[in-house]
Amino acid sequence: MGKSVLVTGGAGYIGSHTAVELINSGYEVIIVDNLSNSDRGSIEGISKITGVEPKFIEADCCDKEAMRRVFEENEFDSVIHFAAYKAVGESVAEPAKYYRNNLLSFITILELMVEYGRRNVLFSSSATVYGDAEQLPVTELTPRKPATSPYGNTKQMAEDILRDMVAANDNIAGIALRYFNPIGAHPSALIGELPRGVPNNLVPYITQTAAGIRECLSIFGDDYDTPDGSCLRDYIDVVDLARAHVVAVDRLSNGRNKDRYEVFNVGTGRPVSVFELVRGFEEANSLKLNYRVAPRRAGDVKAVWADTTLANEELGWRAERDLSDTLRAAWEWEKHVRQ
Ligand code: UD1
Repeated sequence: MGKSVLVTGGAGYIGSHTAVELINSGYEVIIVDNLSNSDRGSIEGISKITGVEPKFIEADCCDKEAMRRVFEENEFDSVIHFAAYKAVGESVAEPAKYYRNNLLSFITILELMVEYGRRNVLFSSSATVYGDAEQLPVTELTPRKPATSPYGNTKQMAEDILRDMVAANDNIAGIALRYFNPIGAHPSALIGELPRGVPNNLVPYITQTAAGIRECLSIFGDDYDTPDGSCLRDYIDVVDLARAHVVAVDRLSNGRNKDRYEVFNVGTGRPVSVFELVRGFEEANSLKLNYRVAPRRAGDVKAVWADTTLANEELGWRAERDLSDTLRAAWEWEKHVRQ
């Protein structure tokens, strides 16, 4: 039998793409998701792309008894924990909801891993932990800044919880992947990001504007101290990001990790401005986007991008997808969703 991986939040945006890459690499995938911000369509999409139907369990990771059954009834050595809330603004308005869900779900998983002797865990962290970094690009050793939102704080706290659990339990090994800005969709257009309500993130807002669902994209600030005045980010294709999870699970499964707790940046290493991204989208898809410059958005940092040396050298991973292909895939997915 092949190796199995439990993927929490596997019906979501990054989770579903990771499930596809895991299956394509020979892993058996068990998905747990409470469908609070996703739907079964992504499970169907995974099955269509891979020709393999992953086992799907509808459950909430905060529900310890339900999760205990998952551990009792399924063999797996590795867990990838995606299940979490991710809206920055909502986390400011409803902090308790974020702390409860994002921390309790992870603690529950970690406790069960110890209890059931399951070794490897991968955690979805974020470049948000670096905040407004003084040195760019950021390496894994760049000091984290105090979080500016409860969402960001849950990422920092969960990293610390993982580090401490690994330190206290010889039989657990963990990796935190710090994602930069994940964008795009699977080239098949069968899975992608499905924001509920008005999107907060740039690319879903762009594709919905192109589709006529939003009237006009606001570019938040053109007066930053950057080459064209708009913010700089490191946009990572979601399929490249998904592949990073596969190599990280491989590393843990093969015991190749140097320390039992490791952190890796997952980005392209290339800063891209908001204007460049908008232009790139227009060119890749031969269309014109309705946009205007608006005031800065509270909480945005001027620039952040990754030094990816560690992931390149230790994981043997690098981002491969071309930005215009990524932006084409994002648009194909938006059109598919609207059909
Ligand atoms: C945001 C979160 C970050 C989280 C990440 C997850 C904030 C402050 N940060 O990152 O904590 O980990 O999403 O996906 O919310 N922009 C526009 N117009 C828009 C939307 C965005 O100009 O309508 C600009 C932003 O100012 C920013 C860039 O596009 O410069 C990217 O924004 P976004 O996609 O929201 O990501 P981040 O803010 O970088």
